[in-house]
Amino acid sequence: VYKQPTAFVIFGASGDLAKKEIYPNLFWLFKDSLLPQNTAIVGFGRKNLEIKDYLKQKIVDRMKLEKDDQEIYDIFVDKNHYICGNYNDEQKFKELDSTIQKLFLDSNQNLQSANRIFYLAVPPKVYPDISKRIAENCRAKESFYTHLVLEKPFGKDTNSSNNLSAHLSKFFQEEEIFRIDHYLGKEMVQSILAFRFANQIFRRAWNRDSIESVLINFKENFGTEGRAGYFDEYGIIRDVIQNHLLQILTIIAMDQPISNSADAIRDEKVKVLKSMDPIKIEDVVLGQYVANEMGASVQKNAYTDDKSVPDDSLTSTFATMILYINNERWDGVPFIISAGKALDRTTSEVRIQFKQVPGNIFKNVCKRNELIIRIQPDESICLKMQNKRPGMDFILEETDLDLTYAEKYEGLYLPKAYERLLMDVIYGSQISFVRSDELEEAWRIFTPILHQIEAERIKPICYKFGSQSIPESDNLITTKGNYTFRRE
Ligand code: BG6
Repeated sequence: VYKQPTAFVIFGASGDLAKKEIYPNLFWLFKDSLLPQNTAIVGFGRKNLEIKDYLKQKIVDRMKLEKDDQEIYDIFVDKNHYICGNYNDEQKFKELDSTIQKLFLDSNQNLQSANRIFYLAVPPKVYPDISKRIAENCRAKESFYTHLVLEKPFGKDTNSSNNLSAHLSKFFQEEEIFRIDHYLGKEMVQSILAFRFANQIFRRAWNRDSIESVLINFKENFGTEGRAGYFDEYGIIRDVIQNHLLQILTIIAMDQPISNSADAIRDEKVKVLKSMDPIKIEDVVLGQYVANEMGASVQKNAYTDDKSVPDDSLTSTFATMILYINNERWDGVPFIISAGKALDRTTSEVRIQFKQVPGNIFKNVCKRNELIIRIQPDESICLKMQNKRPGMDFILEETDLDLTYAEKYEGLYLPKAYERLLMDVIYGSQISFVRSDELEEAWRIFTPILHQIEAERIKPICYKFGSQSIPESDNLITTKGNYTFRRE
């Protein structure tokens, strides 16, 4: 593939995602010589845009250019082209097709085919139009591939998601569709596979006999400023739980796949999802943030203070829930997912708490082992364990077996999620992308509770901006979740 000509088309080229993620990550890949040798990038958008000026002036600060990068950045910019048009204008898609063709003339000025990637960095409501027009007008020719890249939200519930899947499958094979869940591109999420399936000691302990509970914890110390319009329609469950955090859960819980191929791995993830019942309302705590204390050094507004949020919005910005996997390995083990915006800090981590040591011979209270996989920030894997404090007395104390990436892998570059995922799209690896049956199962688990919350207008509990948590959530985590908080 590295030697094959490749056209990378970005729909929504003047938008936020293109600016923040797609253009910068393409540049970084190019700088590291990871893009195919002959790549052309074509932006497509509704705005009239002089793409070279846009890249050189408007969004250049996103590229984090280093001292000697100007020359290579200029070369990158020269690879860029732009078409201004509406997403329902058939003629423009024909123009896109001929533009791509002309970009790849061989040395005799003959048209040469190229792989084609179409990245839909646009609101989901235009996915159907764009995907149909791409399929009808812009497919790669001959044996070259066509890849379609989509970002969540993939629908809002089972019905809308199935409709979208049915539409896409009319025009594209599953192998051509790359549904991005950027959490799957994160270094630590990828490392879970190695941790689980390349270490005999943990393989043996990875089940209901040894594990008491699993907590997947996501916190952000900022609110929904700037994107409250989108957020109010979706809420925290659809925003991060049904996708990012559920994906992590499946990787933690799945059985060993028959190989490390994309389909073998996704087959196992789907089996986990199929073993889960829809979530019950009594296993859920919902919250919405309000302004922080009067007189705090930085005053933070309530969620509903945002102009794009109705005053009586019941959208949750926080949710904790317990999920169960009804299979031989996990029967009865609570999997807790907790996610919130506008909390005290930003972190994503998985905490696996092991069972109490049976027949403890020590007088001290012997705390449970806990394995913590910190996805971000400060990537690390840490095992909390009991040790004898050195000295004449026999005193147990808790200590850490600690693999902190910044120390262990000092100087090694941790690729960014989008860098890795864009590479995967180009080279055709679907391991880190969501398959349609995974998506369908994920919605099966979440749709009933989402509909119930909306139909019954269930009120989220108020919490102050910057809170550590919500007491009702902590209570659910310790009682039904069998999870013991430790002070750190
Ligand atoms: C996005 C959500 O998918 O993920 C955001 O829409 C959330 O609300 C973000 O902030 C979190 O991603 P990351 O990589 O910053 O942890």
